[in-house]
Amino acid sequence: MPLEDCQIIELPKISDYRGNLTFIETETHVPFDIQRVYYLYDVPGGAQRGGHAHRELEQLIIAMSGSFDVVLDDGFEKKRVHLNRSYQGLYVCPMIWRELDNFSSGSVCMVVASTLYDEADYYRNYDAFLKDVR
Ligand code: TYD
Repeated sequence: MPLEDCQIIELPKISDYRGNLTFIETETHVPFDIQRVYYLYDVPGGAQRGGHAHRELEQLIIAMSGSFDVVLDDGFEKKRVHLNRSYQGLYVCPMIWRELDNFSSGSVCMVVASTLYDEADYYRNYDAFLKDVR
């Protein structure tokens, strides 16, 4: 099941007295070539992001600061994942409906993505997604 492919990836964490350092390398830490990075910030309390699925896109979602939840849905079952560590990323495979909510104040959500932005890759209609995935 695709939902089982969506797991937390532990990223390298280099710690010393000056602080922590984490890095992400194409193919080494994510199972795809990194083509794009974007981030959500200044998210108002109570706001919900996402609300779509992707045909091809693979992503790694990281709470760079603060915390939020990601609800993943493969059309059969759902799981809610709480992200709050800068050294953990949630891998999201293609054909997963995702919603992000429960953003803490000042949180930053960084997404490492396998393709450039392409609106044609989106399912923005849940029923259309369900029809194709089932
Ligand atoms: P969307 O993917 O719906 O945001 P989220 O899933 O985080 O709630 O994108 C919101 C808007 O931003 C939409 O008009 C498309 C645009 N956008 C880009 O132009 N480039 C990008 O890389 C992304 C992710 C979105």
